[in-house]
Amino acid sequence: MSPLSQLREKMREAEVPALLVSDPTNVGWLTGFSGSYGRVVVTPDRAVFVTDSRYTIQAGEEVREMPVASFSNPKDGDEFLAEQAKELGVTTLGFDASTVTYAWFEKLRDKFAGVELTPAKDLFASLRMVKSEGEIDKVRQACGVAGAAWEHIQRMVQPGVTEYDLMLDLEFYIRRQGAGVAFDTIVVSGERSARPHGKPSEKKLEVGDFVTFDFGATIDGYHSDITRTVVVGEASERHREIYRRVLTAQLAALDAMKPGVEAREIDRIARESLGDLAPHFGHGLGHGLGKVVHDVGRLSPTSEEVLAPGQIWTVEPGVYLEGFGGVRIEDDVLITTDGIEILTKSPKDLLVLPRK
Ligand code: GLY
Ligand code: MN
Ligand code: MN
Repeated sequence: MSPLSQLREKMREAEVPALLVSDPTNVGWLTGFSGSYGRVVVTPDRAVFVTDSRYTIQAGEEVREMPVASFSNPKDGDEFLAEQAKELGVTTLGFDASTVTYAWFEKLRDKFAGVELTPAKDLFASLRMVKSEGEIDKVRQACGVAGAAWEHIQRMVQPGVTEYDLMLDLEFYIRRQGAGVAFDTIVVSGERSARPHGKPSEKKLEVGDFVTFDFGATIDGYHSDITRTVVVGEASERHREIYRRVLTAQLAALDAMKPGVEAREIDRIARESLGDLAPHFGHGLGHGLGKVVHDVGRLSPTSEEVLAPGQIWTVEPGVYLEGFGGVRIEDDVLITTDGIEILTKSPKDLLVLPRK
């Protein structure tokens, strides 16, 4: 079933007679449009894609399942949208309460005079969580690029190289493969590796540093997200122990993943495995992955989701010790009919670099 048919089914179930889709990720998922300005109005039997003149040609190529209507200055975009909706016979229009700001709502209320605007509950989350074969293939390719980039960067990991240079080289490599960079690359070393989302700095790698790399690629708008942690020069017992315990927690979580298991249970298993180190694991175990890096779904203590075939999750336990450093290990995982397939293939044995 096409995304548009799937959405119409949800609209029927939720008794939403017409829907304004404005969240850019939802618009992209629904239509294939990859630009920044797109709105869709969907009714049970008609739909229109609205964009502006910057994207007229692109939308004509990318949007296949519905007519494209485009406006130019001096036409007001919301006024144009209202005209298009009225042309479809819309009298009651649901909107996405989490992306329509109050200021925008006030303007829409003015432009859509005569149309009842009502906040609609999120109809996309459950649809977007289960990926199609095409989407899985793109994430798989994005994981392949990330794996190749990881292989490539290892030769640069040596004392004296800065975090910033490692980040630049990783991102250059990813772009050179024709892929996009999934998010701001994290390269943090030594004490700085205790910052789960630290920014790469001019700090130079030193012998005895943990170095955490967290990066990803995009292919056709679909993301990968991988983390590997290495030690520079010489690993101490403490390095090995912390690394081993994070890896053990990750493997325990991966081992428990299959359809029907609650997402929060997977998070619990990782925390339990970490034992006395669990207080140093502050973030959730993982998140859905797809058209955005933090896609729908969380592996966390408060998650309400249940694992199902076609979902893609990151699994990324970490331990962060202020004043010493941190370890995170992150893989991207597809839920299959009876278990998982790990899409990020890079080895996870502790790497001490440069290799002797
Ligand atoms: N790089 C962000 C994350 O792993 O969630
Ligand atoms: Mn990551
Ligand atoms: Mn992640």
